[in-house]
Amino acid sequence: MRCLVTGGAGFIGSLTAERLLERGDEVIVLDDLSTGHREVVPTGATLIEASVGDQAAVRALLADLAPDACIHFAGLIAAGESMSEPGRYFEANVGESLALLEELIRAGVDQVVFSSSAAVYGEPLGTPMSEDHQTIPTSVYGATKLQVEHALEWMSRQGALRYAALRYFNAAGGSEGHREDHAVETHLIPLALSALAGQRPALQIFGTDYPTPDGTCIRDYIHVEDLAAAHLAALDHLAAGGASLVANLGTGHGYSVREVLSAIETVVGRPVPAEEAPRRPGDPAELVASSARAHEVLGWTPTRSSLGDIIADAWQAFSA
Ligand SMILES: NC(=O)c1ccc[n+]([C@@H]2O[C@H](COP(=O)([O-])OP(=O)(O)OC[C@H]3O[C@@H](n4cnc5c(N)ncnc54)[C@H](O)[C@@H]3O)[C@@H](O)[C@H]2O)c1
Repeated sequence: MRCLVTGGAGFIGSLTAERLLERGDEVIVLDDLSTGHREVVPTGATLIEASVGDQAAVRALLADLAPDACIHFAGLIAAGESMSEPGRYFEANVGESLALLEELIRAGVDQVVFSSSAAVYGEPLGTPMSEDHQTIPTSVYGATKLQVEHALEWMSRQGALRYAALRYFNAAGGSEGHREDHAVETHLIPLALSALAGQRPALQIFGTDYPTPDGTCIRDYIHVEDLAAAHLAALDHLAAGGASLVANLGTGHGYSVREVLSAIETVVGRPVPAEEAPRRPGDPAELVASSARAHEVLGWTPTRSSLGDIIADAWQAFSA
């Protein structure tokens, strides 16, 4: 298979591209390097440096390289930032995605795997959350992901393409040459590791009075290797003629901020410098996925997402 991977210079896209190449697929990476890193694009992939919204560039690459399918990772990912720059987020995540989808359909590329997010759900009514949970995003970022899902659903209903929208919970971990390295870092584990390494001030624990056993927020962390495996499974599902699908990717088990910090201390042997801070608006107490659908339809089960593995691999990638 020849796969177009947008955002293949980013954390999850670059690792997925590497796993595709390893199994013998051809990979074309489309990335404008706005937040990504040229050096993580795996050897063997063809890098086209352009924006996904650049229809002329995308049209030319589709004509020249004729991919069979597309995994669309590219986008802006910081929920907090999205609240202060809504226009930029809608343009980048919705406008540019629609431009890309239009070109894919025009070129007859009718299998698309899309990076969606747990942020489409908004305030949880309970946990674990299944795909049938209501979708009322509480961030611009979540709203942009949901809009692209809606566009895909309508395109699929019209028979223009088939898609898998994968709603990741908290991507984490790392692998050789692949670590979380976002321009605007908001994720707990890389922030904690940077604080530990003295590259940032003490980690702020936002809220210690949540209705959770230790008072801190609980999240479902999923190893980037497990995410990559799910994308390969979703591509195979679509290539085999499978129907369009929306599926959560998580473990069904959550860890609190304090549990994550204590796991880091166990792995690294030193405590993370941390200080307690007030809650942030819009942070639910607990977000945990039910991934039963990904298991049933894609045959996917996370194998690397114990907290110990996630932290050990994140630390190894961070300190390499
Ligand atoms: N990391 C997470 O926890 C998480 C959770 C849920 C969903 N997601 C989604 O997964 C995807 C990948 O996340 P990541 O953590 O690898 O992010 P990342 O920032 O590491 O990678 C994004 C990549 O997209 C590229 N890009 C951005 N806008 C582009 C554009 N208009 N045209 C071409 N390239 C562009 C960037 O240069 C970068 O290489 C994103 O869509 C994100 O919203 C991530």
